Amino acid sequence: MNIKIAPSILSADFSRMGEAVKLCEESGADLIHCDVMDGSFVEPITFGGQMVKSIRPATKLPLDVHLMIEHPKTQIKFFAEAGADIITVHYEACAKISPDYLAETLELIKSYGVKCGAVVNPDVPVEKIFPVFPMCDMVLLMSVFPGYGGQKFITSVLDKIKAARAYAQQIGKELDIEVDGGINFKTAPQVLAAGANVLVAGSALFGAPDFRAAVAELKRQ
Ligand code: DX5
Ligand code: ZN
Repeated sequence: MNIKIAPSILSADFSRMGEAVKLCEESGADLIHCDVMDGSFVEPITFGGQMVKSIRPATKLPLDVHLMIEHPKTQIKFFAEAGADIITVHYEACAKISPDYLAETLELIKSYGVKCGAVVNPDVPVEKIFPVFPMCDMVLLMSVFPGYGGQKFITSVLDKIKAARAYAQQIGKELDIEVDGGINFKTAPQVLAAGANVLVAGSALFGAPDFRAAVAELKRQ
Protein backbone atom coordinates (compact mmCIF):
# COMPACT_ATOMS: atom_id res chain seq x y z
CA MET A 1 0.00 0.00 0.00
CA ASN A 2 1.09 3.52 -0.76
CA ILE A 3 2.69 5.17 2.31
CA LYS A 4 1.36 8.64 3.06
CA ILE A 5 3.11 11.16 5.30
CA ALA A 6 0.99 13.61 7.25
CA PRO A 7 3.08 16.27 9.03
CA SER A 8 1.29 17.61 12.11
CA ILE A 9 1.33 21.41 12.07
CA LEU A 10 0.96 21.30 15.86
CA SER A 11 4.76 21.18 15.92
CA ALA A 12 5.19 24.05 13.42
CA ASP A 13 5.87 27.71 14.26
CA PHE A 14 2.34 29.17 14.47
CA SER A 15 3.63 32.60 13.44
CA ARG A 16 4.83 31.16 10.11
CA MET A 17 2.11 28.63 9.36
CA GLY A 18 1.80 29.47 5.65
CA GLU A 19 5.50 28.77 5.12
CA ALA A 20 5.26 25.56 7.15
CA VAL A 21 2.44 24.24 4.98
CA LYS A 22 4.33 25.12 1.79
CA LEU A 23 7.39 23.34 3.13
CA CYS A 24 5.30 20.22 3.76
CA GLU A 25 4.08 20.27 0.17
CA GLU A 26 7.51 20.92 -1.36
CA SER A 27 8.97 18.10 0.74
CA GLY A 28 6.68 15.47 -0.72
CA ALA A 29 4.26 15.12 2.18
CA ASP A 30 0.83 13.77 1.28
CA LEU A 31 -1.54 15.36 3.79
CA ILE A 32 -1.47 18.24 6.26
CA HIS A 33 -2.54 16.96 9.69
CA CYS A 34 -4.40 19.66 11.66
CA ASP A 35 -4.78 18.95 15.39
CA VAL A 36 -7.87 20.69 16.74
CA MET A 37 -8.07 20.68 20.55
CA ASP A 38 -10.79 22.27 22.65
CA GLY A 39 -9.41 22.46 26.20
CA SER A 40 -12.06 19.98 27.34
CA PHE A 41 -11.74 16.66 25.50
CA VAL A 42 -8.02 17.31 25.87
CA GLU A 43 -6.32 19.89 28.08
CA PRO A 44 -4.85 22.29 25.52
CA ILE A 45 -6.64 24.55 23.07
CA THR A 46 -4.98 24.76 19.67
CA PHE A 47 -6.99 26.28 16.83
CA GLY A 48 -10.32 26.06 15.04
CA GLY A 49 -11.81 26.49 11.61
CA GLN A 50 -10.18 29.87 11.09
CA MET A 51 -6.74 28.24 10.93
CA VAL A 52 -7.96 25.63 8.45
CA LYS A 53 -9.49 28.40 6.33
CA SER A 54 -6.26 30.42 6.45
CA ILE A 55 -3.97 27.60 5.36
CA ARG A 56 -6.39 26.29 2.71
CA PRO A 57 -5.10 28.62 -0.06
CA ALA A 58 -1.46 27.95 0.90
CA THR A 59 -1.44 24.32 -0.30
CA LYS A 60 -3.02 21.87 -2.69
CA LEU A 61 -2.45 19.01 -0.24
CA PRO A 62 -5.51 17.52 1.45
CA LEU A 63 -6.18 18.94 4.92
CA ASP A 64 -6.57 16.10 7.43
CA VAL A 65 -8.47 17.58 10.38
CA HIS A 66 -8.19 15.59 13.61
CA LEU A 67 -10.92 16.79 15.97
CA MET A 68 -10.00 16.28 19.63
CA ILE A 69 -13.15 17.97 20.82
CA GLU A 70 -16.38 17.32 22.71
CA HIS A 71 -19.65 17.36 20.76
CA PRO A 72 -17.94 17.08 17.36
CA LYS A 73 -21.24 17.12 15.47
CA THR A 74 -21.75 20.78 16.34
CA GLN A 75 -18.46 21.76 14.69
CA ILE A 76 -18.47 19.78 11.43
CA LYS A 77 -20.07 22.59 9.42
CA PHE A 78 -17.29 25.02 10.30
CA PHE A 79 -14.45 22.68 9.36
CA ALA A 80 -16.15 21.47 6.20
CA GLU A 81 -16.78 25.05 5.07
CA ALA A 82 -13.22 26.01 6.01
CA GLY A 83 -11.91 23.53 3.44
CA ALA A 84 -11.13 20.30 5.29
CA ASP A 85 -10.69 17.30 2.97
CA ILE A 86 -10.99 14.68 5.69
CA ILE A 87 -12.33 15.04 9.22
CA THR A 88 -11.70 12.45 11.93
CA VAL A 89 -13.64 12.27 15.19
CA HIS A 90 -12.91 10.46 18.44
CA TYR A 91 -15.00 7.44 19.42
CA GLU A 92 -14.62 8.47 23.10
CA ALA A 93 -16.16 11.92 22.60
CA CYS A 94 -19.10 10.39 20.71
CA ALA A 95 -19.77 7.33 22.90
CA LYS A 96 -20.47 9.45 25.95
CA ILE A 97 -23.26 11.26 24.11
CA SER A 98 -25.12 8.32 22.57
CA PRO A 99 -24.42 4.98 20.89
CA ASP A 100 -25.37 6.42 17.48
CA TYR A 101 -23.52 9.73 17.76
CA LEU A 102 -20.35 8.54 16.01
CA ALA A 103 -22.21 7.16 12.99
CA GLU A 104 -24.39 10.28 12.84
CA THR A 105 -21.32 12.50 12.90
CA LEU A 106 -19.62 10.51 10.15
CA GLU A 107 -22.81 10.78 8.03
CA LEU A 108 -22.86 14.52 8.60
CA ILE A 109 -19.23 14.84 7.46
CA LYS A 110 -20.01 12.87 4.32
CA SER A 111 -23.05 15.06 3.60
CA TYR A 112 -20.60 17.93 3.02
CA GLY A 113 -18.68 15.84 0.48
CA VAL A 114 -15.79 15.55 2.95
CA LYS A 115 -14.03 12.27 3.73
CA CYS A 116 -14.46 10.92 7.25
CA GLY A 117 -12.76 8.77 9.82
CA ALA A 118 -13.07 7.43 13.36
CA VAL A 119 -10.32 7.65 16.00
CA VAL A 120 -9.59 5.57 19.09
CA ASN A 121 -7.34 6.39 22.01
CA PRO A 122 -4.57 3.99 23.08
CA ASP A 123 -6.68 2.48 25.87
CA VAL A 124 -9.77 1.82 23.74
CA PRO A 125 -10.13 -1.43 21.78
CA VAL A 126 -10.21 -0.89 18.04
CA GLU A 127 -13.17 -3.28 17.85
CA LYS A 128 -15.31 -0.41 19.21
CA ILE A 129 -15.12 1.28 15.82
CA PHE A 130 -15.51 -1.85 13.67
CA PRO A 131 -19.24 -1.09 13.22
CA VAL A 132 -18.42 2.18 11.43
CA PHE A 133 -15.59 0.82 9.24
CA PRO A 134 -17.91 0.57 6.23
CA MET A 135 -18.61 4.34 6.49
CA CYS A 136 -14.99 5.43 6.97
CA ASP A 137 -12.37 6.49 4.45
CA MET A 138 -9.73 6.26 7.15
CA VAL A 139 -9.38 5.10 10.73
CA LEU A 140 -6.93 6.76 13.08
CA LEU A 141 -5.29 4.80 15.87
CA MET A 142 -3.68 6.96 18.52
CA SER A 143 -0.26 5.77 19.63
CA VAL A 144 -0.11 8.41 22.41
CA PHE A 145 -2.85 9.91 24.57
CA PRO A 146 -3.96 12.98 22.66
CA GLY A 147 -3.11 16.49 23.79
CA TYR A 148 0.57 17.03 23.19
CA GLY A 149 3.23 16.45 20.56
CA GLY A 150 6.56 14.89 21.41
CA GLN A 151 5.29 11.97 23.51
CA LYS A 152 6.58 8.41 23.54
CA PHE A 153 5.04 5.84 21.19
CA ILE A 154 2.79 3.27 22.94
CA THR A 155 3.63 -0.09 21.40
CA SER A 156 0.29 -1.77 22.17
CA VAL A 157 -1.11 0.09 19.14
CA LEU A 158 0.71 -2.41 16.90
CA ASP A 159 -1.74 -5.21 17.67
CA LYS A 160 -4.64 -2.81 17.11
CA ILE A 161 -3.28 -1.90 13.67
CA LYS A 162 -3.05 -5.59 12.76
CA ALA A 163 -6.62 -6.19 13.97
CA ALA A 164 -7.91 -3.16 12.05
CA ARG A 165 -6.18 -4.20 8.83
CA ALA A 166 -7.39 -7.79 9.18
CA TYR A 167 -10.98 -6.66 9.77
CA ALA A 168 -10.89 -4.20 6.84
CA GLN A 169 -9.69 -7.04 4.60
CA GLN A 170 -12.32 -9.38 6.01
CA ILE A 171 -15.14 -6.99 5.06
CA GLY A 172 -13.47 -6.11 1.75
CA LYS A 173 -12.95 -2.46 2.66
CA GLU A 174 -10.11 -0.38 1.24
CA LEU A 175 -9.25 1.82 4.15
CA ASP A 176 -6.43 4.13 5.13
CA ILE A 177 -5.07 3.27 8.55
CA GLU A 178 -3.40 6.29 10.12
CA VAL A 179 -1.26 6.25 13.23
CA ASP A 180 -0.62 9.35 15.32
CA GLY A 181 1.84 9.95 18.12
CA GLY A 182 5.52 9.23 18.65
CA ILE A 183 6.15 8.33 15.01
CA ASN A 184 9.84 8.55 14.13
CA PHE A 185 12.39 6.61 12.08
CA LYS A 186 12.38 3.80 14.63
CA THR A 187 8.61 3.41 15.12
CA ALA A 188 7.52 4.08 11.51
CA PRO A 189 8.73 0.71 10.17
CA GLN A 190 6.90 -1.06 13.02
CA VAL A 191 3.53 0.56 12.30
CA LEU A 192 3.91 0.04 8.55
CA ALA A 193 4.75 -3.63 9.05
CA ALA A 194 1.63 -3.97 11.21
CA GLY A 195 -0.53 -2.67 8.34
CA ALA A 196 -0.80 1.10 8.74
CA ASN A 197 -0.24 3.27 5.66
CA VAL A 198 -0.64 6.89 6.88
CA LEU A 199 1.97 8.26 9.28
CA VAL A 200 1.34 11.43 11.27
CA ALA A 201 4.57 13.01 12.43
CA GLY A 202 5.02 16.26 14.33
CA SER A 203 8.22 16.55 16.33
CA ALA A 204 10.13 14.02 14.21
CA LEU A 205 9.68 16.27 11.16
CA PHE A 206 9.53 19.83 12.50
CA GLY A 207 12.30 19.04 14.99
CA ALA A 208 14.55 17.51 12.34
CA PRO A 209 17.61 19.43 11.13
CA ASP A 210 16.41 18.99 7.54
CA PHE A 211 12.64 18.75 7.12
CA ARG A 212 12.78 17.60 3.49
CA ALA A 213 15.29 14.87 4.23
CA ALA A 214 13.19 13.71 7.18
CA VAL A 215 10.04 13.37 5.02
CA ALA A 216 12.05 11.43 2.43
CA GLU A 217 13.48 9.20 5.13
CA LEU A 218 10.04 8.43 6.58
CA LYS A 219 8.77 7.60 3.09
CA ARG A 220 11.66 5.19 2.54
CA GLN A 221 10.70 3.06 5.56
C1 DX5 B 1 -1.38 14.50 19.69
C2 DX5 B 1 -1.66 14.91 18.27
C3 DX5 B 1 -0.58 14.53 17.34
C4 DX5 B 1 0.75 15.16 17.60
C5 DX5 B 1 1.81 14.19 17.17
O1 DX5 B 1 -2.49 14.77 20.45
O2 DX5 B 1 -2.86 14.32 17.80
O3 DX5 B 1 -0.97 14.72 15.98
O4 DX5 B 1 0.93 16.38 16.94
O5 DX5 B 1 3.04 14.70 17.52
P1 DX5 B 1 4.35 13.79 17.57
O6 DX5 B 1 4.58 13.28 16.19
O7 DX5 B 1 5.40 14.76 18.03
O8 DX5 B 1 4.08 12.70 18.55
ZN1 ZN C 1 -3.33 14.33 15.56
